[in-house]
Amino acid sequence: MNIVITGASRGIGKATAAAFAAAGYSLYLCSKNEIALQQTADELEQQFPQAKLFFKAADLTSKHETELFAHWLLEKSIRIDILVNNAGTYLPGGILNEEDGVLEKMMDINLYSAYHLTRNLLPALIRQPLLQHTRAHIFNLCSIASIQAYPNGGAYGISKYALYGFTKNLREELKQYHIKVTAVLPGAVLTDSWGDFDNSGHRIMAAGDIATMIFTAAHLSPAACVEDILLRPQLGDL
Ligand SMILES: NC(=O)c1ccc[n+]([C@@H]2O[C@H](COP(=O)([O-])OP(=O)(O)OC[C@H]3O[C@@H](n4cnc5c(N)ncnc54)[C@H](OP(=O)(O)O)[C@@H]3O)[C@@H](O)[C@H]2O)c1
Repeated sequence: MNIVITGASRGIGKATAAAFAAAGYSLYLCSKNEIALQQTADELEQQFPQAKLFFKAADLTSKHETELFAHWLLEKSIRIDILVNNAGTYLPGGILNEEDGVLEKMMDINLYSAYHLTRNLLPALIRQPLLQHTRAHIFNLCSIASIQAYPNGGAYGISKYALYGFTKNLREELKQYHIKVTAVLPGAVLTDSWGDFDNSGHRIMAAGDIATMIFTAAHLSPAACVEDILLRPQLGDL
């Protein structure tokens, strides 16, 4: 299977790449920083020699670079079995106080990256022959912030609600083409987004938890589509 993952150099994206690499799949990874991406690919290659790793750096806030990444994939003429739209950033702030331009930044990385990449790949995905009655599976990394407003959510929350709306519409449109669409809505997950948060008490989830759910949802029968993966820390949201 061929798996495309954005924002794969660290955090949830990297953990998801590791879950699929462990199964020996071929991975096509993207993130902005080329050096970090190269390091991640090297690390995964060493850890999972049965997997194949390909990568291309792109700033997915740029529509042009998103298109270049899509063309890089399409030129390979591979079947794309799974697309994980994971790249995203959290900037805390409230609507009242956040700097001018924050909403645009959040929409660029949290919504438009997934929207444009998906639209660039969709014609090819729809043309793919059925394999075990399925053409492809798309996962969008939404958030608890996609269904619930919280303090300091601001523009981030708005962009994640929008991403969830995109995901729901995509799900309805793609049913007929045997393309599955899944919204992943995690609560707090320990990644760089949480800085030096002390998680010695396991208060927030591990990136591997999200990766395990994505991997599992990708391996159900063709009759089943997990529409939402909603995960919260055992003790609830922070
Ligand atoms: N961690 C949480 O608590 C949590 C909870 C709910 C949802 N999520 C969502 O899950 C996703 C992953 O979160 P995370 O915590 O794993 O994030 P992270 O550790 O901060 O990693 C973000 C990844 O996205 C890439 N990225 C950021 N901006 C990019 C850009 N402009 N172009 C291309 N790649 C870019 C980063 O690469 P570079 O370093 O190269 O930019 C990195 O690989 C995000 O969509 C986030 O909103 C996270």
